[in-house]
Amino acid sequence: MKIVVVDNYDEMSKVAAEELASVINNKPEAVLGLATGGTPVGMYKELIKMYNEKKLDFSKVTSVNLDEYVGLSGDHDQSYRYFMNTNIFNHVNIRKDHTFVPNGLAEDMKEECSNYDKRIEELGGIDAQILGIGNNGHIGFNEPSDELSLGTNLTDLQESTIEANARYFASKEEVPTQALTMGLGAIMKAKKIIILASGEAKAEIIDKVINGKITTQIPATMLHMHSNVILIVDKEAAKLAGNI
Ligand code: PGA
Repeated sequence: MKIVVVDNYDEMSKVAAEELASVINNKPEAVLGLATGGTPVGMYKELIKMYNEKKLDFSKVTSVNLDEYVGLSGDHDQSYRYFMNTNIFNHVNIRKDHTFVPNGLAEDMKEECSNYDKRIEELGGIDAQILGIGNNGHIGFNEPSDELSLGTNLTDLQESTIEANARYFASKEEVPTQALTMGLGAIMKAKKIIILASGEAKAEIIDKVINGKITTQIPATMLHMHSNVILIVDKEAAKLAGNI
C-alpha cells in the first residue's frame, strides 16, 4: 500500500482527482468504480473543474458505483444515484447510460446483485476504484463481520454506520437499515484502488488499517493484499498512525 499524506481535505481531493484523471487520460474508455459519502465530494469538484478546463473527457468512461440504500429510488435526495448525478454526472460529459448504481428498489435483490456482478465482469472489471472508509473500517457497505462477501450483496447496516449517515437525513429513523453493496471480489480485482480519508474522526481507523493485522473485522485491511493501492490521507486522519 502506497501511503500519501497531504496537508488537508482540499489537497487530498486534488491528489485524488489527479490520480483518476491520469487513469482516464491513459485509457479514455476506463471503467471507474466510484464512491459516495462526504469524503469524495471535493474530488468530484476537482474533476468537474478539470472537465470545464477541457483537461478531461468523460465521453467514453463507464462508471460502476459501490453501493445503494435499499428502499430509496434514484430520485430520493439521499439515494446514491441522486448523489452521483448531482455531484458529478450532471456536470460532465459522461453518458448517463454508462453509469451504473445498484437498484435499491429491485424486486428481486438476489437477481439485482448477480446482474450487477455480471455487468462489472462484462465491462472487463474496474480500472480504478475510489474508496472512502467508514469509522468501523467498512469499504463500500461491506461491514465488519466474520465473513466478507465476494459478490454484490444485500447487507444490514451496522448501528455505527446508521449513526454516521444520520447527518444527511432528518432523523436517524429515516436512515435505511439495508443496502446493496459491491463485494470484496470486484473491489479486489480492480486494477488500481484509491482510498481516501480526511479528518480527525478517521484517525483511529486509519491507524488500525495501516498498523494493524489483516482482519475481516476491519474490511479495509484486506486492501493490504492488493498490489496497487494508494491511500491518500490528510494529516488529521494520519495523526495516530505514527511515522508514515
Ligand atoms: P464518509 O463515509 O466519506 O462520509 O466519511 C465513508 C464511508 O462510510 O465509506
